[in-house]
Amino acid sequence: MDPLIVDTDPGVDDAVALMLAAASPEVDLRAVTTVFGNVGLDATTRNAGRVLALAGRPDVPVGVGAARPLVHPQRERAEAWHGDDGLGGRAATLPAGPPVDARGAVALMADVLRGADRPVTIAPIGPLTNVAVLLAGFPELADRIERIVVMGGALGAGNTSGVAEFNIHSDPEAAHRVLTQTDVPVTLVPLDLTMRCPADGAWLDALAAAGPDLARLASVLTHYRAAFRRRYGRDAVALHDAVAVLEAIVPGTLRTEPMALQVACDLGPARGATVRVAAGPTVEVAVDPVGGAPEVLAEILRRLAQASPFSMA
Ligand code: BDR
Ligand code: CA
Repeated sequence: MDPLIVDTDPGVDDAVALMLAAASPEVDLRAVTTVFGNVGLDATTRNAGRVLALAGRPDVPVGVGAARPLVHPQRERAEAWHGDDGLGGRAATLPAGPPVDARGAVALMADVLRGADRPVTIAPIGPLTNVAVLLAGFPELADRIERIVVMGGALGAGNTSGVAEFNIHSDPEAAHRVLTQTDVPVTLVPLDLTMRCPADGAWLDALAAAGPDLARLASVLTHYRAAFRRRYGRDAVALHDAVAVLEAIVPGTLRTEPMALQVACDLGPARGATVRVAAGPTVEVAVDPVGGAPEVLAEILRRLAQASPFSMA
């Protein structure tokens, strides 16, 4: 099994992504690290523990990470999408997780990297603060990282400003550090791609019908489903983080193209934009789901349902 760390700000699509990682036999989920983002750090940390408990993996250590961005304060959260508690108002319906790991996010990641018998994939699905600190603080561990698979960025329209995607906008300086370094290969799964892979109402209903644990996960998504319908006028949700984590688990799920990117770090209206430039270090940007968007969604559901003890799948 390939070792995996998920760095996350749950977040309802983060919750699906964590359940997916826990359900996938190819990977050994060695740690979950938390960061501010969709809601504040205390809530994202509590939520990570709750989702792991729901997934039957309370043994996975949860390391607490950054409560704020590296440089400039950024107070904007995403409660309108994720609910005040970060889990669609349903956090309290999930089992509580065990106490957090005393080492904190970055030291926990460093220990996992040092202790792994093969390079570790890191999947950041929130602001990139913890991962930037890891790369800056432990350069000697770069070759212990197989790949960093980031959910974030937008080459076209953003979702937080006209040009910026939420995770990158939340900490542009950290994102710039991660996306322009050359020590570790990076795959970026941007909004342009994840918005093309929506889970529709039938998918959500199938999730709810696939056993009691997945019914609880589906109920976490109800608030997001309503918000998505209000914003986009359709009965669907974009499971951004789960799509990225599927690529981390099954490399090659998404077709990628190398691109040199920079992150706009000025304080003007472009802040947080991922800008394509002519030259410079490249990252692999996901541009297409290889088997098509419906197959990506079907694969996520299949994995969740197969792992669910009461599932009919
Ligand atoms: C990203 O922003 C968050 O709201 C989601 O959890 C996802 O990681 C999508 O832009
Ligand atoms: Ca997220």
